[in-house]
Amino acid sequence: MTSKTNLTINPQRLWDALMETAKFGGTPKGGIKRLTVSDEDKKVRDWFKAECEKLGCKVQVDSVGNMFATRPGKNNALLPIAMGSHLDTQPTGGKFDGVLGVLGALEAMRTLVDMGYETNAPVMIVNWTNEEGSRFAPAMLCSGVYAGVFTPDYAYSRADRDGITLGDELKRIGYLGSEPVGSHKFQAMFELHIEQGPILEAEDKMIGVVTGVQGMRWYEVTVRGQESHTGATPMGLRKNALLASARMIEAIHQVGMAHLPGVASVGLIENRPNSRNVVPGEVFFTVDLRHPDESVLDKMEAEYRAALPKIAAELNVELEEKCIWKSPAVKFAAPLIECVRKGAQQAGYRMREMASGAGHDAAYIARVAPTTMIFVPCLGGISHNEAESTTLEECGAGSQVLLNAVLDYDRALA
Ligand code: GLV
Ligand code: MN
Ligand code: MN
Repeated sequence: MTSKTNLTINPQRLWDALMETAKFGGTPKGGIKRLTVSDEDKKVRDWFKAECEKLGCKVQVDSVGNMFATRPGKNNALLPIAMGSHLDTQPTGGKFDGVLGVLGALEAMRTLVDMGYETNAPVMIVNWTNEEGSRFAPAMLCSGVYAGVFTPDYAYSRADRDGITLGDELKRIGYLGSEPVGSHKFQAMFELHIEQGPILEAEDKMIGVVTGVQGMRWYEVTVRGQESHTGATPMGLRKNALLASARMIEAIHQVGMAHLPGVASVGLIENRPNSRNVVPGEVFFTVDLRHPDESVLDKMEAEYRAALPKIAAELNVELEEKCIWKSPAVKFAAPLIECVRKGAQQAGYRMREMASGAGHDAAYIARVAPTTMIFVPCLGGISHNEAESTTLEECGAGSQVLLNAVLDYDRALA
């Protein structure tokens, strides 16, 4: 058997894969716009499938487009060990969010193949469909279907802001697979990701040993006033949906400020009819509340819900509000966290434990299999931004720790 010291990933090869696939949806500002199940997503999926097949992996697609690339082990009666993340991006996404987790796993797989190293259990790479939730809400949608949180029909029915559904798009790009969701079982999953926050960089640590994910709730709000002439409607007689929304957005911001480290955000807003000389008649916006403690999140929700009707009444507008998604706080599996810690130690990296502020497929997968995550730093903690930046060395470190952790877990199966 190959000695474990030879199982060193190739950071340059990983970097080249990141840069090559960044062309699928690449933006002039150096980011990626690769909305889930778009033409660009199809291109990166085709690329990923071809590269996995070159390694001798079997690539299968389930009926919500989740992709599973499996390399057999010595004992194929054992369930595979999975490494997974996502290849879709935000509309102004960076080159690393999600992509590093899939391509870092591909680099780990390439290393195993190059060295002819046989694991005890099969090893699998997963590309989860629609992690971002930007085009089709909610986030982590198809890892959620895998975990039994949503039905496939619910996923198919999700529509983007143009009314196009995920189901139709999956069919159109050829990734509505034939295999039932959940049929590709695995015994554990490790997800490599950039931190998307500033802590590792500030503390000069290379590896985040991730212990869990904070709770998240998404809401949709429609405010209805009355369209009227901006020149002829006296200030006191307006039903201005945009003014009401502005005050609501400020109130939502204050809910976050009152419950730090909780966060409260409005990220998407549509103003109608959006004409400079019409008092806005209708506004749609989204709300995102997060906190590591569910009981505090309950309080944040109650305060947010109390604030909006008061503002609506003061400004004489109608309010429609609904919660569209709740993802409870998650704690990852201790034995897997230990594999990551040992993997980072073995490679000689400075590390710290941390919880994730962002949502990840791992949060849903943790419901059906032991799961954990590995973080690496990103420049200035900036993510969901075309300027997102992580170095070749940091990407390589993450992939190496991912491989070390998988092998450590696998050795215990002998
Ligand atoms: C996913 O990227 C999220 O945290 O919203
Ligand atoms: Mn991500
Ligand atoms: Mn993201």
